[in-house]
Amino acid sequence: MTKIAKEKFKLGLELPTDPRWVNIAEKSLEEILTDHAYCEQKAASTCISIIIKYADKKDVLEQISPIVSEEWAHFRKVVAELHKRGFELGKQRKDDYVVQLMQLHKKGGDRDESLVEKLLISALIEARSCERFRLLSLHISAPELKAFYHEFMVSEAQHYKVFLNLAKLYKDENYVMERWSEFLAAEAEIMRNITPRADRIH
Ligand SMILES: [Fe+2]
Ligand SMILES: [Fe+2]
Repeated sequence: MTKIAKEKFKLGLELPTDPRWVNIAEKSLEEILTDHAYCEQKAASTCISIIIKYADKKDVLEQISPIVSEEWAHFRKVVAELHKRGFELGKQRKDDYVVQLMQLHKKGGDRDESLVEKLLISALIEARSCERFRLLSLHISAPELKAFYHEFMVSEAQHYKVFLNLAKLYKDENYVMERWSEFLAAEAEIMRNITPRADRIH
């Protein structure tokens, strides 16, 4: 891969995932697919919550509504993959990564500031998910799953861009990029302290 392509895939993330994570993740496809399905459900649910809370913001409504449909289509696709393999969708699990990211949400700001926080946290989750899907698409043993994960990687990369660009509509670009770099540093710290698990996308 060229240097430019590598940079492009970093999505700003400061701590790359060890590719050996794929070896543990693929040991139980039922577990990793179940966790993945709920990541998609949470992405759809979060988008709906943002739309409801900021219904007065036309750009939020117009740009996030299609993402709700895409995330829900992702959920259905992952569930179909589970069923195709004779597995069931398991129970939802606690997502330590997302719980810790939510704690980064700055309190006490105005309404737009709070929206920017939500958009940047969503962008972070998209970026990290995209990075993980890319690793799966490259290194997973099952050949049919390479294309499966590649498709998610492409889609989540688009979402990441939408959230980051939307944030710039509600606070000036310098503020957003400064806050974004604080989030990136904090996200790397969270990742550093989370032990990679076979049954978690994050
Ligand atoms: Fe998704
Ligand atoms: Fe997404």
